[in-house]
Amino acid sequence: MQTLFSLQGKNAVVTGGSRGLGKEMALGLASAGANVAIISRTECPEVVTELEALGVKAISVAFDIGDIANHAQLVTIINEKLGHIDILVNNAGVQKRHPSVEFPQDDWEFVMNVNANAVFSLCQKFGKPMLEKGKGKIINLASLLSFQGGLTVPAYAASKGAVMQFTKSLANEWASKGVNVNCIAPGYMATEMNDALMKDEVRSRQIMDRIPAGRWGSGQDMQGTVIFLASDASNYIHGFTIAVDGGWLGR
Ligand SMILES: NC(=O)c1ccc[n+]([C@@H]2O[C@H](COP(=O)([O-])OP(=O)(O)OC[C@H]3O[C@@H](n4cnc5c(N)ncnc54)[C@H](O)[C@@H]3O)[C@@H](O)[C@H]2O)c1
Repeated sequence: MQTLFSLQGKNAVVTGGSRGLGKEMALGLASAGANVAIISRTECPEVVTELEALGVKAISVAFDIGDIANHAQLVTIINEKLGHIDILVNNAGVQKRHPSVEFPQDDWEFVMNVNANAVFSLCQKFGKPMLEKGKGKIINLASLLSFQGGLTVPAYAASKGAVMQFTKSLANEWASKGVNVNCIAPGYMATEMNDALMKDEVRSRQIMDRIPAGRWGSGQDMQGTVIFLASDASNYIHGFTIAVDGGWLGR
């Protein structure tokens, strides 16, 4: 059973791993034995230290994933520093909130570029060597808003809908070649991304009251699912989105 979930000797990349869900998922992968490269806009040596304390190799690469033109170079740098990548967790994401009627076009494009365009490109760039090797695991971060429209977040909903859909498209082409592409859809998680929501007492109470589990989620709640999707335990799961949402979508 331990072998089924082991990531010993595997190399993983986690985008946006400097904080929030990405950091906790990186720690989860490392606890299962994976070496980890964190990609974030600025270097995060303190996270590297935490990862190394788990007995794995860890590196931090400062890179803005919105810079799609340089994704191929990013892959080269990471391959040189860590080796062939077995696991990609496309976690980095951004949020912008405005009433839809006045949602600025540049905010729309910013959100779509980081959350959807960059994620698709990273799937391609890291996916190609996985396809050549005949094995790999790609885990994209979807959202409840891959299923629902949300309030004042149309670009985020559009981007996360796109991620869930193209994850299926990639799985259809890559499943027979040994590469698993799946999503995790977190529910309402207590991270900096949700600062504004958590500070809004009315909305925060409304959200909590609707979560069957009766609490907001945490980064630790993501660890079991990301280890599962990164390990051999999920080898026959393709193109699927697992909600880690305290039961929200079932309600
Ligand atoms: N928190 C939630 O409730 C929730 C719910 C559903 C989905 N998600 C998704 O989970 C993922 C992580 O969310 P979080 O709550 O931890 O967010 P967060 O804002 O706390 O962290 C996001 C991370 O992504 C990084 N990042 C953002 N833009 C980047 C860029 N252009 N280049 C490199 N790094 C970049 C940030 O620096 C940060 O490390 C996101 O994709 C988010 O959309 C979160």
